[in-house]
Amino acid sequence: MLGLQLITAHLLAQPGNKLKAEQHRPQMHFSPKAHWVNDPNGMVYHKGIYHLFYQYYPNSTVWGPMHWGHATSKDLFNWQEQPIALYPDSLGYIFSGSAVVDKNNTSGFGKKGQVPLVAIYTSHNPKAEKDKPLEVEHQSIAYSLDDGKIWIKYSRNPVLKNPGISDFRDPKVMWFEPAKKWIMTLAAKDHISFYSSPDLKNWSKESEIGKEFGAHGGVWECPDLFSLDDNGKKVWVLIVNINPGAPNKGSGTQYFLGDFDGHTFSPFSTDTKWADYGPDDYAGITWSNTGKRKIFLGWMSNWMYANQVPTLKWRNAMTIPRELKLRHVGDDLLLASEPVAELLTIQSKPVITQNITVTKRMDISGKTGKVKLPCRINLAIDKIDDFSLVISNDLGEEIKVGYDKAQNQYFIDRTKSGKKDFHKEFAERHVAPRFSNNAKMNMVLVIDISSIELFADDGLSVMTSVFFPNKTYSRIHIQSPGIVIKKLEYVKLLSTWK
Ligand code: FRU
Repeated sequence: MLGLQLITAHLLAQPGNKLKAEQHRPQMHFSPKAHWVNDPNGMVYHKGIYHLFYQYYPNSTVWGPMHWGHATSKDLFNWQEQPIALYPDSLGYIFSGSAVVDKNNTSGFGKKGQVPLVAIYTSHNPKAEKDKPLEVEHQSIAYSLDDGKIWIKYSRNPVLKNPGISDFRDPKVMWFEPAKKWIMTLAAKDHISFYSSPDLKNWSKESEIGKEFGAHGGVWECPDLFSLDDNGKKVWVLIVNINPGAPNKGSGTQYFLGDFDGHTFSPFSTDTKWADYGPDDYAGITWSNTGKRKIFLGWMSNWMYANQVPTLKWRNAMTIPRELKLRHVGDDLLLASEPVAELLTIQSKPVITQNITVTKRMDISGKTGKVKLPCRINLAIDKIDDFSLVISNDLGEEIKVGYDKAQNQYFIDRTKSGKKDFHKEFAERHVAPRFSNNAKMNMVLVIDISSIELFADDGLSVMTSVFFPNKTYSRIHIQSPGIVIKKLEYVKLLSTWK
């Protein structure tokens, strides 16, 4: 293994191969400089800095012994990689989890007035996997007294021992003010368990939920629980990631809306709804300590092929950060997500065209005949009708995104998007229901070198999809004869990759 890594490192160091090593590199999405990444972890906002930790294997571009990598940003788009925060130890790998600002020093970790940051994560012991499956996963904590740079593991880890459930992981912790206690939302194979604690060290079980509803095509992982405002009323959102069993195969993020009283979660409805219908938004959770604003970030991949996608130097990236909101549609209350407003800080001047009737095909590649990715496209269409937008290169490779009126579905088609042989189920057409009943339609598309994110109807229908063309896409056109586009805004996004 090490030999192979040395050979790869040697090959990548040769000048001609540098470009190739960077082929498909996202320009405004977070990806590590090198090696493997999966779930976002420990996301916490503290002293004007967004901290992003992530499942990281620093020795290879495939999944392996998990560490917490670390990156920081002031604006959610320009990320600075920091030294690795947590390394595997005698309790095992450092699996997913969360981080909180312990303002009242409930943990007692704070010294000399320094507010501790506390990370709560799963210790996953691979040695027990074979013959002691019930001893594999426990919850542990670590703290930082220098605003997230150095992390010290608690000497009495684990703080929550496995109760006899093989998959018992991904603690997401929040402060529950009415009862002045911490609440941990934990994935336990086919359900969610809630625990509470006065000090982040001693945990008691409150309740469990979920065996009887929701999608169950795979293991429940990476949950989140938080409240959002619905016209002055508090509504609780329970996020449950699941793999496999998502609507477009593989990994996906379902959610439930309801009440939470500090002990139990009571869903308003047990219908399964999905935060993102595309194939490539997984393990998403929200930043802690952002007040009423809830910012969600997902891993932009799918366990079906995450270990095989054709990048050389690093593997996988995060979605763009999204702001979550509640929206009413008829009698339904739904979770909507839209690009965070900070996206405006990395864009150049928008080019706006209004009231255009598309005759045959409309090129939006501009005067040069080419577009440069990344870019954002906003579309407002007054009449609900078939619509498709094609992003392509001169090798005939393309991504098609749009709306199918007969099915009332949005779609992203990557069947001809470029490299696809690395997994037999990669090159497919994916769909998302249209929830809005509005007679007008709007779409925001965020397109990077190797990904597209669709936010339709003010974020009610969302899809994320990655792709790997042999040559970077450089043209965009609309092919929906007869459609009237009320407003089209094309904006080049600045690269934040360094
Ligand atoms: C989700 C997940 C988590 C786990 C981590 C391991 O993608 O399987 O449940 O903690 O990845 O890397």
